[in-house]
Amino acid sequence: MINFGSKHHTRTPILKTCKGNATMKITTLLGSAKKKGNTAIVLGWVEEELKAQGHNVERIYLHNKSIKGCLGCAKCRENPDKIACVQKDDAVGILEQMINSEVILYASPVYFWGFSAQIKILIDRSYSLVANYQQPNHTSLLQGKRLGLLATGAGTYENNAEGLFTAFDRIADYFLAQKSGELYVGECGLPADIPAAIRSKAVELARSLVA
Ligand SMILES: Cc1cc2nc3c(=O)[nH]c(=O)nc-3n(C[C@H](O)[C@H](O)[C@H](O)COP(=O)(O)O)c2cc1C
Repeated sequence: MINFGSKHHTRTPILKTCKGNATMKITTLLGSAKKKGNTAIVLGWVEEELKAQGHNVERIYLHNKSIKGCLGCAKCRENPDKIACVQKDDAVGILEQMINSEVILYASPVYFWGFSAQIKILIDRSYSLVANYQQPNHTSLLQGKRLGLLATGAGTYENNAEGLFTAFDRIADYFLAQKSGELYVGECGLPADIPAAIRSKAVELARSLVA
């Protein structure tokens, strides 16, 4: 745990050796309603670094998308080679964009010790991307993707944000994806008050996503 000044705490991102500069297609998923809130500010710094490295970054602002909750009907399981969800709303296009990306970064405020509703509803709909979980023939349309997580919260990491990060670990396994970076920025007040010192952590996260 690194302490930034008296009140901001971060969870250090996974760091990998920096190599290769091939252009990657990167989708970021903003799960806050606020376009200029804490999460959006830090996400902007991550995106800025990725773009500076020449990567193709597209942000999806989930709050204005129309996404219904998963029905749990399991119809998607009948056709695991494509997005076979029976609900034809904005989730389908977003899941398609994720499949067509090499890196996917989830960015969420901590809401009641977990993901915000805007992110969680999309995660539930990604049920349609995976078949035969925990079986030898486990498949995923996101297999091998690099996955990252950025979360901001009012509290510290301990006794607060761990559940969200644990869920993310399991989601990465579920997707057969490669967890490539994570950052928790804690003790973020309202309105947004992210100190400039956090920027270097955002840059580290960006670099670990494409390393
Ligand atoms: C409905 C709601 C629930 C929240 N729950 C938590 C929580 O469980 N833990 C926490 O650390 N912060 C919690 N917060 C605070 C936000 O996570 C924090 O202020 C965050 O940085 C807001 O990000 P944003 O400005 O991008 O929306 C909550 C805020 C709201 C509005």
